[in-house]
Amino acid sequence: MSLVFRSAISRRSFVIGAAATAAALPPTAPAGSSTAEFRLVAAPARWPLVGAPHPDTNVWCYGGRIPGPDIRVRQGEPFRIVVENKLQQDTTVHWHGIRLPFAMDGVPGLTQPPIKPGENFTYEFTPPDAGTFWYHPHANSLQQLGRGMAGALIIEEREAVAVDRDIVWVLADWRLTSEAQIGSGFGNGMEAAMSGRVGNTVTLNGAISNDERVRAGERVRLRLINASLARIMALRFEGHRPVVVAIDGQPCDPHEPERGRLFLGPAMRVDVMLDMQGEPGRRYRVVDDFYDGLSYWLTQLAYDETPPVRAHPLDAALSLPRNPLPEPDLTTAERHELRLQGGMMGGGAMMGMGGMQRMGHGASWAINGTSMTGDGHAGIAPLITLQQGRSYLLTMRNETAWWHPMHLHGHSFRVLSRNGLSVPHRQWADTVLLPPKETVGVAFVADNPGDWMLHCHVTDHQVSGMMTILRVA
Ligand code: C2O
Ligand code: CU
Repeated sequence: MSLVFRSAISRRSFVIGAAATAAALPPTAPAGSSTAEFRLVAAPARWPLVGAPHPDTNVWCYGGRIPGPDIRVRQGEPFRIVVENKLQQDTTVHWHGIRLPFAMDGVPGLTQPPIKPGENFTYEFTPPDAGTFWYHPHANSLQQLGRGMAGALIIEEREAVAVDRDIVWVLADWRLTSEAQIGSGFGNGMEAAMSGRVGNTVTLNGAISNDERVRAGERVRLRLINASLARIMALRFEGHRPVVVAIDGQPCDPHEPERGRLFLGPAMRVDVMLDMQGEPGRRYRVVDDFYDGLSYWLTQLAYDETPPVRAHPLDAALSLPRNPLPEPDLTTAERHELRLQGGMMGGGAMMGMGGMQRMGHGASWAINGTSMTGDGHAGIAPLITLQQGRSYLLTMRNETAWWHPMHLHGHSFRVLSRNGLSVPHRQWADTVLLPPKETVGVAFVADNPGDWMLHCHVTDHQVSGMMTILRVA
């Protein structure tokens, strides 16, 4: 799990990250048309993940680049995107975190037929919520996401937020060989029953980054997206005090994270406001110290020599306008418990449920005793049936020895409690990170009808059993 290429190139003066500013996907619709239209091609490509002198990496990606192009559309405005599959295998696109009609959710066999090689599929929806979302495949997820298919989906507020710059960092983790190629061995069973496929190289917007240029005095809205298969991050900004203003796209009460650490499990997003209070000409590291003894620096905030753009931090409010989410009614909410089970513990035994064979072939994990494997498919019995418009309170109990970022499709939920203590800052999420043995309470109003997936976003865990379906009738 050490970072091979970071240690190989660290502290050299050439700048790799600066070349990797994310490109935005331009709408293809003529100006004045009311639906924003885009085209997105999924195909193999070569991309300079590590940079010279290492060769380019063979990847699978969107729009010929890593990450896929930023898609920016406005809240409440219809959006249409044609996805063309130029891979050698079926794919789909899932619009992670967006509240949308079931048929647009991108789960093969469940919400749509898979997009076959050479074919297209048109996604069309009107995003109700502004915020930081992302898109990724929901077919052969381990390889398609693990080989690079992911991009940012930014839903812009109706009124612009007062910041000097709005920046997206798509963070991704790769297991690369010494030739800078993606290592084989996807779906290793032992790994799947533990942390999942954690890699050895972390990129920021598709490259190893030494420096991200900033100016003294500016206020930056930084949108962090963890697009990794399995790597969990805990980011600290040396010399800075980021203020969290949104989690998984949904605004929260602005707050500084505990001990300055921003936790980002796979699929999670955090928007922070950063007032650049450092000194012109200096560099400040952004450190990820989630794994004990394996901390590394992701990049550095590299200040221009220019004098501060303003003497005092910007006066504008930090809080973002709230989205039109239905507030769950806790007095009438129906309660359900989800027990997360399985995985290795010390000594190689599986936890819970009396061992491996009861979990079925290829399964290492389960929810309430049932393992659903793969990427989603038709004909699975839902774990719970919900009534549209009703409030639900789910208690998720992590009975395992591992961390799980649990994601519910098509909904955002209030994060109410952790181990019985209430969670401050009125937080919503679509992916909630559960440390080992922790219990988390979330509540939401059942929204659009459909069979919505609920799964761990450590992709190995998802495909080996930690997945289920909540049906909204
Ligand atoms: Cu990003 Cu099934 O999810
Ligand atoms: Cu998991």
